[in-house]
Amino acid sequence: MFRSLLFLLTPVGNTFISSQTLHTSKMLKKLPTTMKAVGLYKYLPLADPNSLLDLEVNVPEVKEKQLLIEVKATAVNPIDTKQRAPKQIVESTPRILGWDASGIVVSKGKNTKLFNLGDEVYFTGDLSKNGTNAQYTVVNEEQVGLKPKSFTFEQAAAMPLTTITAYESLVDRLLLSDKDKGKTILIINSAGGVGSVASQIAKNIGLKVIGTASRPDTTVWSQEHGADFVLNHREDLLLQLEKIGYAKGVDYILVNYDPFPYWEFLMKAIKPQGKICLVVDSSGLVNLSSLKDKSVTLVSEMMATRIKYDTEDKIRHHEILQEASKLFDNGKLKCTLTKTLSPINAANLREAHRLLEEKCMKGKIVLSGF
Ligand SMILES: *[C@@H]1O[C@H](CO)[C@@H](O)[C@H](O)[C@H]1NC(C)=O
Ligand SMILES: *[C@@H]1O[C@H](CO)[C@@H](O)[C@H](O)[C@H]1NC(C)=O
Repeated sequence: MFRSLLFLLTPVGNTFISSQTLHTSKMLKKLPTTMKAVGLYKYLPLADPNSLLDLEVNVPEVKEKQLLIEVKATAVNPIDTKQRAPKQIVESTPRILGWDASGIVVSKGKNTKLFNLGDEVYFTGDLSKNGTNAQYTVVNEEQVGLKPKSFTFEQAAAMPLTTITAYESLVDRLLLSDKDKGKTILIINSAGGVGSVASQIAKNIGLKVIGTASRPDTTVWSQEHGADFVLNHREDLLLQLEKIGYAKGVDYILVNYDPFPYWEFLMKAIKPQGKICLVVDSSGLVNLSSLKDKSVTLVSEMMATRIKYDTEDKIRHHEILQEASKLFDNGKLKCTLTKTLSPINAANLREAHRLLEEKCMKGKIVLSGF
């Protein structure tokens, strides 16, 4: 269902003339040469004020297929805290984190074709480049989608990275489609950023969704975002699966958490010939033998892959964001924003990183405005 819908999308470039005219005043606004940004030279614990710094740097230049986007809001993800994690390296030029944002297209490279100046967009980034914790950022247009019209910039910034990860996990890796109506998926950590989008997409496809959470508030949140059942991951999961009628296991499992502590359970909970998708790195070695015994398929999802390896199908990120925009606007997908901090500065970003490092967030944190 989702896959086929994606291929029906028409390029957005044909609104060129109206959009250009509409945004004439914005086009005439001269871009500044420097901008505010939050970045780092050293990789330090958060308690150190130098772990994230307020900076004034040059506005980046757009190349061939890139857009220059004025950032309105930026989300924080586990990838940011991983990138910032303490290590010995010292950067000679500042590194700007953040790879999940919304904003306005203010300039574009000569080989771009998908967007017009003035378009309101939402997008992810490229880990090897500077990110979205800055007033302006450059990004390849194939990583960008039109912002959902019914969303604020803050709401839109909360969604690109988790939506692409959830969508790729379910549709591109587990290959879920209409054929899977009535089957069952277990989503480990269903109240997190990716989990609460994945539950909604799986539910929309027609699967029974079993999530895991432990607190009353995250359990309710998960139910509100597509989970039919929510198991308590602090108690015996296998026993709980049996109690709700799945003694024979589930068809699919999406693991939005370190799989290491869950591995034995996963091997028991997956049905013969089932499929498991891992989104998070394992903190230890796992035994693959049970996969063979049950002919289980194990797949991995990393949102950065298509960008990092410049794969032939990397336009897919644009397609997913375009499709998701429609689903957000027609109410089929709900926003998962739970906390907004303003303005975008080093102190607020350190606070957002701290909340993520405590690992008890439900939904997403966004920073907005400079
Ligand atoms: C990131 O931005 C800083 C400040 O403008 C610049 O010196 C640096 O070269 C940029 N890094 C990358 C990877 O583009
Ligand atoms: C992996 O699991 C199989 C089957 O349970 C067992 O026979 C084997 O010894 C295990 N391998 C390791 C390295 O633990």
